[in-house]
Amino acid sequence: MRTVTLPDHTEVSALGQGTWRMGEDGRRREQEIAALRSGIDLGMTLIDTAEMYGDGATETLVGEALTGVRDQVFLISKVYPQHAGKGRLEWACEASLNRLKTDRLDLYLLHWRGSVPLAETIEGMDALVRAGKIRRWGVSNFDHEDMEELFRAGGEVCATNQILYNVTERGPEFDLLPLLARHHMPVMAYSPIGQGALPASPALSAVASRLNATPFQVALAWVLRDPRVIAIPKAGAAAHVVDNRRALDLVLTAEDLAAIDADFPAPTRKTHLAML
Ligand SMILES: NC(=O)c1ccc[n+]([C@@H]2O[C@H](COP(=O)([O-])OP(=O)(O)OC[C@H]3O[C@@H](n4cnc5c(N)ncnc54)[C@H](OP(=O)(O)O)[C@@H]3O)[C@@H](O)[C@H]2O)c1
Repeated sequence: MRTVTLPDHTEVSALGQGTWRMGEDGRRREQEIAALRSGIDLGMTLIDTAEMYGDGATETLVGEALTGVRDQVFLISKVYPQHAGKGRLEWACEASLNRLKTDRLDLYLLHWRGSVPLAETIEGMDALVRAGKIRRWGVSNFDHEDMEELFRAGGEVCATNQILYNVTERGPEFDLLPLLARHHMPVMAYSPIGQGALPASPALSAVASRLNATPFQVALAWVLRDPRVIAIPKAGAAAHVVDNRRALDLVLTAEDLAAIDADFPAPTRKTHLAML
């Protein structure tokens, strides 16, 4: 498995697994657990979840899927902004740990910016690191200005910024990705295949047919073309997990990239970071 290096030199899988909407339908439970476990077997050992997903039901499902394999996994959860203040952060983290049936998170992310001052959240995150509850922390849905403010507030040890990034959402290439690169901070791309609903694209179709792949695999390979990007597609079906793993091995040529640029142009001006 190809890896991406975090600012503290930890290596994580470039291709991980998302979990949004898992654990919400009991009839799909076994299939979702099997999908996550097959992904781990295939080396997709970075798993992203959040206290928000299914009101905790997703973390509970992930905890079950990790039975016996927790130590092989780089486990990420996310805290609601309204829980990211003094006292509540510790409580929210403890609740996530309980649902996930683990004693520590490898990465804890602030899900999006809220009204709690960044310095207070940083202080709380640092305290969780000292207590051994989390190994490191990061943010999500932070635009360029938010990152600048985070750095000014003492957040240089932030591990990553998890953002919406895929062929249809290239805005971050304008200023956010360069800023993160200057800070040696990888980006974590969520919804890397557009939530399974990419628009029809002659380029994606043509490249897919040349590589004997699907347009989704090509779109995922496109996100992964950048060595500083970690992608976390969600697949509740084991066949999709296998497809996603294979996408990591697809090699896109300069011609392929140019064709994809023609269908999905790179940004030429600042646009605000979109979020789901
Ligand atoms: N920080 C945030 O605010 C934020 C926001 C959104 C998402 N996220 C994280 O990012 C993860 C991924 O994003 P996402 O779930 O929004 O969207 P996504 O990963 O782009 O797409 C997931 C959808 O695509 C389908 N799919 C997966 N692999 C496929 C393949 N190879 N071919 C065709 N369809 C495929 C899945 O179907 P099946 O499930 O049926 O396999 C599912 O319907 C989330 O699960 C979550 O962990 C974070």
